[in-house]
Amino acid sequence: MSHTAGTGAWGSGRGPGAPRIVVIGNANVDVLMGDVAPWPVPGSEVVIDRYEWRVGGAAGNTGLALAAMGVREGVDSDVIAHVGEDFLGGWLEDAMSGAARLTRVPHPTALTVGLTHPDGQRTFVSYLGHLVTLPEDRITAALDAARPGDLLLLCGYFLLPELRAKAPSLLRSARQRGMLTMIDTGWPDEGWTPAVRAEVAALLPHVSAFLPNREEAVGVTGGHEDAVVEAAAAALLELGAERVVMKCGAAGALLVGVDGRVVHPAPSVCVQDTVGAGDTFNAGLLAGLARGMSWAEALAPAVNASALAIGSQPRRYPSWAEVVEAAGETVAAV
Ligand SMILES: Nc1ncnc2c1ncn2[C@@H]1O[C@H](COP(=O)(O)OP(=O)(O)OP(=O)(O)O)[C@@H](O)[C@H]1O
Ligand SMILES: [Mg+2]
Repeated sequence: MSHTAGTGAWGSGRGPGAPRIVVIGNANVDVLMGDVAPWPVPGSEVVIDRYEWRVGGAAGNTGLALAAMGVREGVDSDVIAHVGEDFLGGWLEDAMSGAARLTRVPHPTALTVGLTHPDGQRTFVSYLGHLVTLPEDRITAALDAARPGDLLLLCGYFLLPELRAKAPSLLRSARQRGMLTMIDTGWPDEGWTPAVRAEVAALLPHVSAFLPNREEAVGVTGGHEDAVVEAAAAALLELGAERVVMKCGAAGALLVGVDGRVVHPAPSVCVQDTVGAGDTFNAGLLAGLARGMSWAEALAPAVNASALAIGSQPRRYPSWAEVVEAAGETVAAV
C-alpha cells in the first residue's frame, strides 16, 4: 500500500518541458434517466424523477476531467475526438470547449441513454452514429508532433471500429517516437470471445500500461469471474504489457509490472453516480504523470479524482487542488 501525499510530487507544476498528453477516443451525449423499476413492459410509458444530460464517452469524460485539473487543451494536451454535424454535435462542441477540440463529421452524433435502477444497476442503450469514423488527419498530426516522454491514451476502443483497426500501428509508431502508450478498451459488445481476447493480447506488447478494470482484466485473460485479480494481472504482463494499472472500484487500484507492485486504496465516498469513474481515473493518472510523478505516485491523483467525480451530483470534475486535498484526507484517515 502506498500513500504519496507529501512526497513533493504533488507540488511540482508543469515545467516548460513537461510531457504533452494525447487522448484519442469517443465523445458523445449521455442522457441518464431514473430510477426505473421494474423493467418497462413493451408498449408502456414510464415516468421518472430525474434525468441528467451531459458529455459522455471516454474521451469526453477524460477531456473534461483533465481540463478541470488545469491541463490546458491545445497547450498541454490534445484531446482528439469527433462529433456529428447536427444539434448534438454543436452542443458537445460548446460543452467541451477548453477541454477538447472536436472535429465535425457528416454523421448523426452518437447518443447513449442510460436507465438507472434502484439497486444501483444501469442499462445503456447506445446509438453509435459518428463513431464509425476517426479524425485521422488530427491523429497523424498529433503523433508526428510528439516528443519522447509524451503520453498517449487510446480509449473507447471497442466503440470505435477504426480505432480497433488502427490501434496496433498507432501504438507501434507512438512507441517508436518514445511516447508512453496506454489503452483502456472498455467492455466489448460481443463479449470476450477468443477472437476479441487475441485482438487485445496483440496490443499488449505495444503498451507502457494497460488500463483495464477488474472484469476486463479477467475477460482478456480468459479467466473465470471469480479469478483472483493478481492472477489476471500476472497473465497480462505475461502477454507483453510493460505494466498493468487495474481499476478495482471501491477497492482502489493495483499497479503491477516493471516498477513492482503497488496497491492504492480508494478514498471512501458517498457514490452518486459511477458513470465515467474509469475515465476520470485515467485523467488523474495522466495528469500526475505529466507533472513528473512516477506510475506508483500517479495512482493517488487517479483514485482521488475519480472518487470526487463519482461523489458529485450533478457531475463535476475536481480541480488539481481538490485532488491534492483529498490525498491529505486519505492519509489523515489511515
Ligand atoms: N465506490 C467507489 N468508491 C471509491 N472509489 C471508487 C468507487 N468506484 C470506483 N471508484 C474509483 O474509480 C476507479 C475506476 O472505477 P472502476 O474500477 O469501476 O472502473 P471502470 O469499471 O473502468 O469504470 P467505468 O465504468 O467508468 O469504465 C476505481 O479504481 C476507484 O479509484
Ligand atoms: Mg472502464
